[in-house]
Amino acid sequence: MKNIVVLVSGGGTNLQALIDAEKSGIIKGGKITCVISSKEGVYALERAKNNNIPTRVIPRKQFSDSLSYSKAILEALNEEKADLVVLAGFMTILDECVTKEYAYKIINVHPALIPSFCGEGFYGLKVHEAALEYGVKVSGATIHFVNEKADAGAIILQGTVDVLPEDTPEILQKRIMENVEWKLLPKAVSLFCQDKIIIRDGKTYAQE
Ligand code: GAR
Repeated sequence: MKNIVVLVSGGGTNLQALIDAEKSGIIKGGKITCVISSKEGVYALERAKNNNIPTRVIPRKQFSDSLSYSKAILEALNEEKADLVVLAGFMTILDECVTKEYAYKIINVHPALIPSFCGEGFYGLKVHEAALEYGVKVSGATIHFVNEKADAGAIILQGTVDVLPEDTPEILQKRIMENVEWKLLPKAVSLFCQDKIIIRDGKTYAQE
């Protein structure tokens, strides 16, 4: 059984999707053993507590820079003996001291079709605002490994939804979460936990 540590910063609907997927047996070969939040008082922490998952809070605002914050995260991940780290709505970019030590062991969910609307500054609703502003006709979400560049690691899974004329950022966000994020994130986690993701030349190949 692989230890899955989930990093969160907000409402935690993707965390909930993972918890539900673990309970219903969709996630094979892994168990969520800890949830770490970058903010106090977020609802994701309640979701973890309601399901008896141990939590830690490492507030980003208590650290002056990304490196010192990342070192604190690294120490926690090592203490938790994390086999897989999932960034589920985690709004802080981690320094390479973490991404190098956990290379191909950190999975992120990004709410757009990478390489569009991604990188530094593109997070949460800002991503959907940018997609609507551009006028794209499809959008979606990407599940990818995390490397030292924001949203630039190897893609594991992607899924799409139509963008509709009346969409607001909130409506588009909800459609992408319900139809793509909450399904593909647990699927990617399960593939990882069963060692079914092959990496070749910086690209991934999933064995279904
Ligand atoms: C999700 O849409 C996730 O894809 C996005 O934030 C939301 C978090 O929701 N993540 C990013 O933008 C990361 N760059 P949640 O807390 O309800 O899972």
